[in-house]
Amino acid sequence: MNKPAILVARAIFPEVLAQLQQVFDVDYNQGDEVFTPAELNHRLHGKVGALTAGSDRIDAALLQANPQLRIVANMAVGYNNFDVTAMTAAGVLATNTPDVLTETTADFGFALLMATARRMTESEHFLRAGQWTKWSYDMFAGAEVHGSTLGILGMGRIGQGIARRGAHGFGMNVVYHNRSRLSPELEADCKARYVSKQELLQTADHVVLVVPYSAESHHTVGAAELAQMKPTATLVNIARGGIVDDAALAQALKDKRIAAAGLDVFEGEPAVHPELLKVPNVVLTPHIASATVKTRMAMAQLAADNLMAYLLRGQALTPLNTPSGPAA
Ligand code: DGY
Repeated sequence: MNKPAILVARAIFPEVLAQLQQVFDVDYNQGDEVFTPAELNHRLHGKVGALTAGSDRIDAALLQANPQLRIVANMAVGYNNFDVTAMTAAGVLATNTPDVLTETTADFGFALLMATARRMTESEHFLRAGQWTKWSYDMFAGAEVHGSTLGILGMGRIGQGIARRGAHGFGMNVVYHNRSRLSPELEADCKARYVSKQELLQTADHVVLVVPYSAESHHTVGAAELAQMKPTATLVNIARGGIVDDAALAQALKDKRIAAAGLDVFEGEPAVHPELLKVPNVVLTPHIASATVKTRMAMAQLAADNLMAYLLRGQALTPLNTPSGPAA
């Protein structure tokens, strides 16, 4: 009997690929090149399922050209590369990889906050450049982390993980803003107080962004928001490029409007705004918040499990929609 045909659109762990190859006819992107929309469209022809990453855009035109498609499993918790409404209408199930990356990503968010506040990469560059000739009292003096005020914009699972680290591990005063308020139990667990976005921006010593990207959250932090922050404050973005107006941030960092920033995600990544590369008071990492071997393996496995569960047994593990269109 013919096996169902699927596309694995980016390179994944060989162990996970082997599981998929046992039950599916797999077209594998061995070279891990990032497909153009036309290449992705071409490679999807005849496929009933696909395993994708954030670089693969699934939109109405692609769905129309591939009416046989039944499921796309994203190897990411974020899914702003999916037009979920179009997928639902086309009868295509969308899945993501929640939970398995929560704690690892929260670890990274906290690490980036600390590296930013304590000027770790800036001082390392100074040392590597042979500029360290003597100790001085104010050399790379940064911002306090323990006991300071942590402001979290976006209080989903990852935001809550960062809140717990700050409150329980570092005695931070945690404030948060979110579309909906947490239950009293969760607020108590995170030791977090709900405030307006304005109060958060004005009072936090460290602002961490964990909001999902959408048209509404585009430029959640731009020049107006940066102007409200304390001049001693730091800003950390582990959410998505586009949540921050990177040009406005580069200007604010250059003007010392805020003290420093830590960025794991960028508008138009993997391109980085050229002005951000010029300012010293920013820590830059290439979208690696979930990148531990164990977590990336768990993400790949969950994406593969979603494909196998849905295409072989009709029930996915972490669905994002209920397909209503022709292919369901
Ligand atoms: C996620 O899971 O959304 C991470 O940002 C990796 O893309």
